[in-house]
Amino acid sequence: MELIRPSLVGTKPTLNRVCLITEALLRRNMNGSIVLFGPPGAGKGTQANRIVNLTSKPQVSTGDMLRAAISDGSNLGVEAKSFMEAGELVPDDVILGLISERLKMEDAKDGVLFDGFPRTIAQAEELDKIAIVSAVVSIEVPDDSIVTRIVGRRMDPETGEIFHVNFNPAPETIIHRLIQRKDDNEITVRNRLKAYHEQTSPLALWYEEKGILVKVNGEQSIEEVGDEIISKLSEL
Ligand code: AP5
Repeated sequence: MELIRPSLVGTKPTLNRVCLITEALLRRNMNGSIVLFGPPGAGKGTQANRIVNLTSKPQVSTGDMLRAAISDGSNLGVEAKSFMEAGELVPDDVILGLISERLKMEDAKDGVLFDGFPRTIAQAEELDKIAIVSAVVSIEVPDDSIVTRIVGRRMDPETGEIFHVNFNPAPETIIHRLIQRKDDNEITVRNRLKAYHEQTSPLALWYEEKGILVKVNGEQSIEEVGDEIISKLSEL
């Protein structure tokens, strides 16, 4: 199937027929939630916007929720901070408390786009009890590329947009306000990768056995990764 360009997404007057067909297929196939799955720095956050625009499902990023809790100084943030700074997973009960509250919100009734959740078999089992998962998109990137991506990542605190110093540079006008995440350093990312391989990657097989896992080559351009995700979700 021919693919839509990101520039067409959400700009209704310019939507062509192919775009409408792809959107319709996606909506038909994705009645429940979608999970973006992959190692740290695979491109989950980068790809989330495009899927949100196509499906109208809200993005639910446990990493963003935890960072918000830390900056609010809440008890939850205090509990999560040391785990995150060490590159370890936050305990399941904390994460599941956050998710069950979030899924009670009105905008979650037709499913959400999970970004960074679930990350353990226990989280996935609990999710199964409270929501329907229609698809799990595994963005596959080897460890060697991950460190370069993570160390060069910069974020715009005003818009949440994600950039990379080499692979996706920000416009000159906003460079002064970009920030780097505290856990985006080489030592922590190696721990995050260890946690991913030990605790999270077994989930791929778990979802594959359910027939809802799609694997995407994450080592293409950002646009090509997005095209492959949309194409594979439309076919599921
Ligand atoms: P979280 O915030 O979820 O971080 P993560 O999973 O480590 O993922 P990242 O946000 O680092 O990467 P991404 O895949 O979104 O990549 P991005 O698009 O930014 O979690 C942080 C911490 O919170 C965890 O370590 C843990 O402590 C805790 N936590 C969160 N959820 C939890 C849970 N469920 N259970 C327990 N603990 C939890 O891209 C990365 C960079 O690469 C960017 O610079 C981007 O521009 C660039 N890039 C993207 N795509 C490409 C491409 N195709 N080519 C070249 N560069 C690219």
